[in-house]
Formats: sequence, C-alpha cells, structure tokens
Amino acid sequence: MIQLAPSILASDFSQLGSVVKQTAEGHADMIHIDVMDGQFVPNITWGPDIIKAIRPFASIPFDVHLMVDSPERYIDNFIEAGADIITVHIEACTHLHRTIQHIKSADVKAGVVLNPATPVEALTSILPELDMVLLMSVNPGFGGQIFIPSTIEKLKRLRNMVQQLGESVDIEVDGGVNKNNVADIVAAGANVIVAGSAIYQTDNIAESVRTFRAFMKE
Ligand code: DX5
Ligand code: ZN
Repeated sequence: MIQLAPSILASDFSQLGSVVKQTAEGHADMIHIDVMDGQFVPNITWGPDIIKAIRPFASIPFDVHLMVDSPERYIDNFIEAGADIITVHIEACTHLHRTIQHIKSADVKAGVVLNPATPVEALTSILPELDMVLLMSVNPGFGGQIFIPSTIEKLKRLRNMVQQLGESVDIEVDGGVNKNNVADIVAAGANVIVAGSAIYQTDNIAESVRTFRAFMKE
C-alpha cells in the first residue's frame, strides 16, 4: 500500500489544528511535520510544544522530520509531544546508531533522512535497524521547490538494497512531489509520499488529499 503523508509546512499556520483535522478527514495516512532549527537548514518552524498542541486534532500517525543539528538532544521531547515516527538526518547526527536505538526504545518508529547529495550506500550499516528511510528530493529548508530528477535513480538503488535485506523498511520521498511526477516516484520504489504545496493550495483540504491519492497509483 502506498501511503500519503501531507506536509503541513505548506498549510495556513494560523489554523494548524483545523488543518490537521481536515487532512485526516481526507484519509491521509499520516501527517508530515517539518521541524527546522535555523542551523542545519536556513529556516525555522516549530518545536515539540506546537506538535503537542495539534496532536489532539487527529489520530493518524505524526511523522516528524527533524532538520535539526544533533537531534539526539530533543528526541525525548518529540516523543513526549506525540511523535509516532521520528526521522533524523544522517548529515546532522554523529552517533546515528545510538540515536536510532534511542528512538526505537520508546516504541516510536525510527528513520534516517538523506540529503540529495548523500548516496544511499551511506545507509549500508544502519539499514537493518530502520523502520523508514526518507530521501530528500529537494535541498531541505523550504516547501515549493522543484523535484531533483536524480532522486529516481537513488530510489531504485535503495529499493534493491531493501529487497536484498529482506526486511520491511518504508521508503519515503520528500520535496517537489506533485500529481505529474508521483506515479514515476512510486514506480521507482517509494511507498510513502510527502506532498506539501501540491496538497494545501486549496480551500478544501480533505478533497485535495483524496484527489492527490488518485495520482499515486503505480
Ligand atoms: C522541505 C520539507 C518538505 C516540504 C515539502 O525541507 O522537508 O517536507 O514541506 O514541500 P513541497 O511538497 O512543497 O516540496
Ligand atoms: Zn519534510
């Protein structure tokens, strides 16, 4: 099953609770929440207290993407705030294995994110420990950017690596995904699709989620 994780980064921040509620009403599989620290990426969004505040508006999983230097400092805060999946950047995390074990020890799903310039082969040692890999298909920091085409080759290589491993690891793609390219992205091996600007530029969020899903078929 291909899953859809709308990124609320593209939504109306003055209405976040309602945005989350409507996204779930459109049968999104999870809510993708972009945490940016102004250090690892040149933008700042929100932290655990905001996540805690919007948590009651939906029961679907919160997929928390940490674009934060040394994310191990905040893992417990995000777990306490209600994260169901936490992904950390390989480029931001010195003791990646320890951080992944830390997340998993709280029964929260753990994933690793790769920037566009980081090869999937960097995952070889950590892959068996992971619930999810997130491939960035734009340079992180902002919504509304253009999908980087070389991501397709990375997806195919990663799909092979996961198949050879023989374990179930979700492969998520984030950045510049839209109705025109999503089928190719799914065909290349992604099974969790993040989409921000392609979903939230509308007055009817639930309808927009449903419409987008129709384009996700392989
Ligand atoms: C970018 C974020 C993405 C972003 C995607 O740093 O990680 O989740 O919201 O937005 P779109 O779909 O507009 O590229
Ligand atoms: Zn993201």
